[in-house]
Amino acid sequence: MKLEVRQADITTVEADAIIVNLFEGVTKPGGATGAVDEATNGLLSDHIKDHEFDGKTLDTLVLHSPSGVKTKHIIVIGLGRQAAFTPVTARKVAAKSIQKARELKAKVVATIIHGAGIGGIDTILASEMTVEGLLLGNYRFDRYKTKERKKYEKERIEKVLLVEHDKNKLNDIQIGLSRGEAIANAILNTRDIINESPTKITPSSLVQAAKEIASLSDSMGLTILDEKQLQKEGYNALLAVAAGSEKEAYLIHLHYKPKGVKQSIAFVGKGVTFDSGGLGIKPWSAMLTMKSDMAGAGAVLGIFQALAELEAAGMPLETEVHGIIPTTENMISGSSMRPDDIIETKSGKTIEITHTDAEGRLILSDALTYATYLRPDAMVDFATLTGAAIRALGRSYAVSMGNDRQLLDTIRMASEETGELAWELPLPKEYEKYIESPVADIQNSANSENAPGAIIGGLFLQEFVREIPWTHLDIAGPSWQDDDTNPVYPKGASGYGVLLGLKLLEILKG
Ligand code: BES
Ligand code: ZN
Ligand code: ZN
Repeated sequence: MKLEVRQADITTVEADAIIVNLFEGVTKPGGATGAVDEATNGLLSDHIKDHEFDGKTLDTLVLHSPSGVKTKHIIVIGLGRQAAFTPVTARKVAAKSIQKARELKAKVVATIIHGAGIGGIDTILASEMTVEGLLLGNYRFDRYKTKERKKYEKERIEKVLLVEHDKNKLNDIQIGLSRGEAIANAILNTRDIINESPTKITPSSLVQAAKEIASLSDSMGLTILDEKQLQKEGYNALLAVAAGSEKEAYLIHLHYKPKGVKQSIAFVGKGVTFDSGGLGIKPWSAMLTMKSDMAGAGAVLGIFQALAELEAAGMPLETEVHGIIPTTENMISGSSMRPDDIIETKSGKTIEITHTDAEGRLILSDALTYATYLRPDAMVDFATLTGAAIRALGRSYAVSMGNDRQLLDTIRMASEETGELAWELPLPKEYEKYIESPVADIQNSANSENAPGAIIGGLFLQEFVREIPWTHLDIAGPSWQDDDTNPVYPKGASGYGVLLGLKLLEILKG
């Protein structure tokens, strides 16, 4: 899908479908929507008068074969109440509108920039949101749908024109387009990696992906620790999880350092390319979707791809960023890690294995230790850590937990601004009893049915962060969508974390 800025009056643009919008409760449309209404002799106002459409958020009205404009279909999308309108709504609206256009089998689509006119959002931001919405909403993982592919081919949108008649706004729209494309492409790539079959996405293919990303920018460096080096340096927690897999484990360290920057942040992403549960094997139904247990790694890769692409587009983010990915499979064999095993982590702390399925926190313990050696100003980990996080907050929110009020508040702010939501749970000292071990420093799971699983995961990780401001994001919920409630995040891998991570960098840089 190609996107292009076009200076024109939307009523004169030739396209298969044009997309305009309407605030809830407006009876006389203004701006570009008003122009379309006038050109079609009040076609839209007639529908509003008949109460067929009132502009509720994401409601759509499609007007077929209208006269007075040069398009087959007019798609009018509801923006909701103007007082509640935000850039996040603009992104959602764009996503929904492109899905409508695709249903109509449009090849060439013309759209206005949502929020840039009456919406009152800054033009660059409105353009970025619109572009992200278009690209993220149009995504579908269809490379293995051999039968549907023909149908999908017919539904493929070739070109979207971003139409604006005011020539003073064109430059800003172009900037928003470049930003939105850079970021959305990174997210789409992340989704592809997560959705792909786990026969193809393995620890070594994540290494390959990191290499490709690092090669995009001169400001990027890459260090890989393979199993031999991990052994030599004592990353035994990562190696313990990897023991049951035939595939080699790695610790990936991406490093982005533009010139003259002082702040640094480390993102750590759980990269379990398949989680069978290990010897404490998961039931079949819980094992489904466990290819997505590397969604944290995917988020980190996506952030780095976006950093590289934004730099290439002439709008670099000026913060030093580390991306650390411990990656392995959690599988079963004669050499698998056992319950009762006691391991000595890189940090020196010992762990009694009480559950082989609580493997994420093990590999993250070594990765967080590695991150502390880099002395970053802040650390944020993205991890599909617990089913309990899904039960607590569902699929719309990540669980956030941490040791630093300011970082937690900044993440909360970034989450609201991006729509990648996160909600905080506490890390109470009195719950540390759940990970007390009779034989080692700590154990990796609570031996109790009613234990607060997401919190225990957070408390476990906290043992490895030292004094560095840190936030743990349990993304088990939002990294995977099982329905199409939010048009920005179609079913399957969402790419959650890329927008949030980038926004955090933007805010921290001041
Ligand atoms: N990868 C899972 C967590 C998960 C579950 C992610 C569902 C996405 C969807 C993790 O490794 C795991 O198995 N966690 C256990 C922890 C328990 C054994 C302490 C869980 O949540 O049951
Ligand atoms: Zn597990
Ligand atoms: Zn897991």
